[in-house]
Amino acid sequence: MKITSPLDPYISKSQFKDLKSEILTTIKKKGYYILQMDHSFGELLDSSLNEYRRLITDKKYRINPSTSSFRWEDIKENYFTKYSIGSTNGGGYPIAQLLKTTYLPSSIEFLSKSKSNIFKLSRFLVILRNLLSDLPISFGYSPKTEKFWNASRIHHYPVGGGFMSRHLDEKFPEIMKSSMIPFLQVSVSLSIRSRDYFQGGGYVIDKQNKNQIFTDRTLESPSSITIFDGSGLHGVQEVDPSEVFTFEPIKMRAALFASTYPFIS
Ligand SMILES: [Fe+2]
Repeated sequence: MKITSPLDPYISKSQFKDLKSEILTTIKKKGYYILQMDHSFGELLDSSLNEYRRLITDKKYRINPSTSSFRWEDIKENYFTKYSIGSTNGGGYPIAQLLKTTYLPSSIEFLSKSKSNIFKLSRFLVILRNLLSDLPISFGYSPKTEKFWNASRIHHYPVGGGFMSRHLDEKFPEIMKSSMIPFLQVSVSLSIRSRDYFQGGGYVIDKQNKNQIFTDRTLESPSSITIFDGSGLHGVQEVDPSEVFTFEPIKMRAALFASTYPFIS
């Protein structure tokens, strides 16, 4: 399926031209770039957060075991949810963590038919990542021929200590290297610090000065996108450790990622 006017209405073609070199230069130097968007994008983030809250309170989506895996085909039209607790639940190198992950349906035909704001947001992030990586705008939506797919997923860190320890993304960048496809992480936090949770949250380590930079939305910057090189250090600091632990989605830190995963038939 052809997607027209790629980043409209949030970034115009001429804006993107200037932005692209600024983003890539900064990432090379510092390892990350925080893109400040306008108010309408913040509204899309808020409506996506509300959709996520409704989604996970809907009991028809079952929870899968932490160690379970799936293929692109398994989630063409379905969500896939699991808790990631401990450090041996993913396919990659062990990273201690405590969160709930929900993968979005993977088929572009299914996504295109839906009116969901989360899907709209996820497609926007995919297109942005593809344009920054000099890939076709809809790259990752034809995995059988392209050999990669867009793994869009929501990471939900509960208050009471949800976290992901400091790490580098190692497994996928290695695979990407041999395919010449860059591994840029494009993500947004859906929750706002000082509104949905108060302490901790997503961070990257600045390559230049080694400072820890929190990247989540805040009340001062409620419409931001984080673009970072996954081969640099990053993590999620314990979310509201002084609260009583709960996966209830009233208070939490949630983020949406759009990454490319290799397609395994
Ligand atoms: Fe990571």
